[in-house]
Amino acid sequence: MPVISASHEFEVSDLFVNLQPIFGHRLFLKVEGFNFAGSIKLKAAREMVARAEAAGLLGPGSTLVESSSGNMGVALSVLAAARGYGFVCVTDSRCNEATRRAMESYGTEVHVITEPHPVEGFLGARIRHVRALLAEDERRVWLNQYLSPGNWMAHYRTTAPAIARQFPDLTVLFVGAGTTGTLMGCARYFRERRPSVRVVPVDSVGSVTFGAPPAPRHIPGLGTSVRPPLLDDSLVELPVHVEERDTVRTCRELMRGGFLFGGSTGTAVGGALRWLDEHHGDGAGGVRERVTAVTIAPDLGERYLDTVYHDEWVARAIGPEGLLPGVDRTGLGAGAGAGAGADAGLHAVTG
Ligand SMILES: Cc1ncc(COP(=O)(O)O)c(C=O)c1O
Repeated sequence: MPVISASHEFEVSDLFVNLQPIFGHRLFLKVEGFNFAGSIKLKAAREMVARAEAAGLLGPGSTLVESSSGNMGVALSVLAAARGYGFVCVTDSRCNEATRRAMESYGTEVHVITEPHPVEGFLGARIRHVRALLAEDERRVWLNQYLSPGNWMAHYRTTAPAIARQFPDLTVLFVGAGTTGTLMGCARYFRERRPSVRVVPVDSVGSVTFGAPPAPRHIPGLGTSVRPPLLDDSLVELPVHVEERDTVRTCRELMRGGFLFGGSTGTAVGGALRWLDEHHGDGAGGVRERVTAVTIAPDLGERYLDTVYHDEWVARAIGPEGLLPGVDRTGLGAGAGAGAGADAGLHAVTG
């Protein structure tokens, strides 16, 4: 066991769950929620803060300002507490209450945006609020996770090599896309070191990241209302888009297998299974050929007990289909989603 003196020094970086017993495909899930921030965003936050300190942009008396759907906010709250900075987090009404309260407990000032910008949605409104806060006080520093190279570099240096080490025979890696920091760090690493690995983005239906039309979304983490500036889609495959009802149903399938993960894990796993069925399935819920696939669980499920795992919230926000057991991924009304109806609700779209 390591001995640490700052909370951000600890993380579990080599834990994978074999999902084959639950879903049939040879799909492994890299678990990123075991650190003091509870999510993968601690890595990006650590790298961005270290770079800003090294460049002299951040130091004693600074106050960080950042726009976040929640997890980056918690990660920066942890770092700000450890390093003695102030922190103002700008989030929106989709942020889980438990996440907001965690940030406030660390001493973070949380501003919740309740009205989306008419064209650029909640993200556009959050960014405008950040700019107004910066204009008020020059001690405020915006690391800007949507632009900072530290965001993708963290995954190029840690997440991707850990996956490559564990799976020398990796065929395909599925990565959920929010800011696309995780996606671009992994895509650059595999493009350079192991170009045969296919890197497939997974996004939510309603997100504009890969050029699809905007629509309301309720689950934080993945998807965006403004195209992420970090994204270079020439480095990745065509994306898979997942409906929120299938995100919820996949989360609940994982939970019935004993694994309580956050909402975006349901999206990533749901998208991965759909893609694997289409590319390597036998058309009847079975597996045609052996591939080794990995996807990433950015956080754990406790903060989602009042949303993804709460029947009334699901019925109200997502609709009653979110409560059906399992997802029919064969399109034949059989297999994992027997009785769940034939529409899997997952769409592959052109990037
Ligand atoms: C729960 C969760 N999943 C996925 C992501 C997406 O990661 P990235 O911003 O690296 O694309 C985030 C980002 O905030 C997240 O909080």
